[in-house]
Amino acid sequence: MTKNSDFDVKISSHKELVSWVQSQKQLWMTKNIVFIDGDLGAGKTELTKQIILSLESGQLPKEFGSPTYNLIHEYPGQSKKYLHIDLYRMESFEELESSGVLESLEENQTENNLAFVEWSNKFSYLRGLFKNSLHVQIERADRDEGRRIRGLNLNPQR
Ligand SMILES: Nc1ncnc2c1ncn2[C@@H]1O[C@H](COP(=O)(O)OP(=O)(O)O)[C@@H](O)[C@H]1O
Ligand SMILES: [Mg+2]
Repeated sequence: MTKNSDFDVKISSHKELVSWVQSQKQLWMTKNIVFIDGDLGAGKTELTKQIILSLESGQLPKEFGSPTYNLIHEYPGQSKKYLHIDLYRMESFEELESSGVLESLEENQTENNLAFVEWSNKFSYLRGLFKNSLHVQIERADRDEGRRIRGLNLNPQR
C-alpha cells in the first residue's frame, strides 16, 4: 500500500504556521525541491517565504517577491541558494519544455540548493523526475488563517 502523507498538520493561525515551519527546519534542510500545491491564496508563497526564513535565521533575501508574473526567481541566501518557480501561468507541456524550468531544476540538484515549485499539480509528472523532493499540499481549513498542510517525501530511495 502506498502512503499518502508523511505529515498531516492543522494550523490555526499564521503565527502557528511560523512556529511549525521553524520546528521542521531539519526537514527543509535535507530537501532539494519542495513542490507546493493549493488553491490561489492557500499560502504556497507564504510557506515558501517561511521556509526560507527558517533556514536563513529570519533574514529574507531581498530579492524575495511573489513570482506569479515571473517564472523563475533565484535568491542567494546565506545558507543556501533558492530557486522559486510558479507554474500558474504555464499553459502547455511545450511551453514548459522550452521554458528552462527543467534545466533549472536539474542544475539545482546540488546539496546547497533548494527549489520551490508552486502549482506542480499542473504538471504532476515533474514530481517524479528529481531526487530528494517533497510534495506539500495546502488547504484552507475552518477559519481565515486555518490551514491543513500535508507532505509526502518523493523518491526517498534515490
Ligand atoms: N496559516 C496560514 N498559512 C499561510 N498563509 C496564511 C495563513 N494565514 C494567513 N495567510 C495569508 O494568506 C495569504 C496567502 O497568500 P499566498 O501565500 O500568496 O498564496 P498562494 O501562493 O497559495 O496563492 C498570505 O497573505 C498569507 O499571509
Ligand atoms: Mg503564490
